[in-house]
Amino acid sequence: MYEEISSFIDPSIELKIGFDEWDKFKKNECSPDSKLVIITSKSCRKFISGIDNEIIIIVKDEPSLDSIDYYFEKISKKISNLDDKNINFIALGGGSVIDTAKIICLMISNKIKTSEEAINRSSREKLVENYKIICIPTTAGTGAEITPFSTIWDKESGQKHSIVAEKISRSIILDAKLTLSLPKKIIISSGIDCLCQILESTWSKNLNHLSLKSASKGFKYLIKNINSILRNINNIQAREEMLVASFLGGISISIANTTLCHSISYPLTAKLNIPHGLACGFTLIEVIKFNSKLKDKFLKSTLKTTGYETSEILVEKIKEVFKNIEFNNLLKPHLNDVENNLNDILPLTLNKRSSNNPVKANLNEVEMIINKSLIRFK
Ligand SMILES: [Fe+2]
Repeated sequence: MYEEISSFIDPSIELKIGFDEWDKFKKNECSPDSKLVIITSKSCRKFISGIDNEIIIIVKDEPSLDSIDYYFEKISKKISNLDDKNINFIALGGGSVIDTAKIICLMISNKIKTSEEAINRSSREKLVENYKIICIPTTAGTGAEITPFSTIWDKESGQKHSIVAEKISRSIILDAKLTLSLPKKIIISSGIDCLCQILESTWSKNLNHLSLKSASKGFKYLIKNINSILRNINNIQAREEMLVASFLGGISISIANTTLCHSISYPLTAKLNIPHGLACGFTLIEVIKFNSKLKDKFLKSTLKTTGYETSEILVEKIKEVFKNIEFNNLLKPHLNDVENNLNDILPLTLNKRSSNNPVKANLNEVEMIINKSLIRFK
């Protein structure tokens, strides 16, 4: 059913999609002799039951400078030989869990000792993953299982840093069984992150044929399923296809990267703790309108990928999605915070991601986008 998707990724990356795939893997591959570093979260710990392993890291939040240093030290103390190439990482959880595993794997692979050093070295040299990471995402949104980059948040300065792997070494398991107990608000926030990632990749300056192909397939799966997973939480096929949409979005942004919605979202998450997907979706419609200049000249690939004739029709479709999943209700509690802290946030909204946007935005224009978004959701 998903044959074509394998052709989108490097043949060295193993991909398994199906209900119960994680349990099968656990039974066959996680013997007491396997050297595993397991990284998961409190809510996902139940899925690793039965694995006899002493290195288990329970991630609480998004990766930060402090949390990465803390987990790295904990793991280093437990692994007697950090050069042992037989070590495998298991990253089972949402985007924060998978990003944490990716960063720590890169640190061990490249003999990096601190999160600060990881940030510095990632900006000037090519880092590689020398250990396999078995990624089992339990949310459908970030596509972190396939992207080469991870995020470290610096909440004090309100910024985020990207760590990039030049070469990745992954096995990916997309198993809908693990998403069945997700709370609705996480489904919505992750789903909107996925929507933003897919759409932003289609208007990014860095798009290519493959990123558009992946975005096109991902968009179809997302639009088909985003309402039905909320209407019937036990719809296994819808959940599986959402995981696939998220994975495809991950492929698209690995090539094309994200743009202005993500760029504006970072200080909203870092400074105001607005969940990532909500923070990205907050400006999505106004960013599309901003990019629709010159008769949709900059949105040609977006319209071709999504199958809508004009940006107005695309905006109407997004409004319909927002309405059906009651996105406004989740966003509303954060709007006063955005309004009251606009002056602090604004200078942090233009960063590397915004430079991928097809229409260059200045701070006045970002302020206008935020103000219009505030009016839209109030
Ligand atoms: Fe994202």
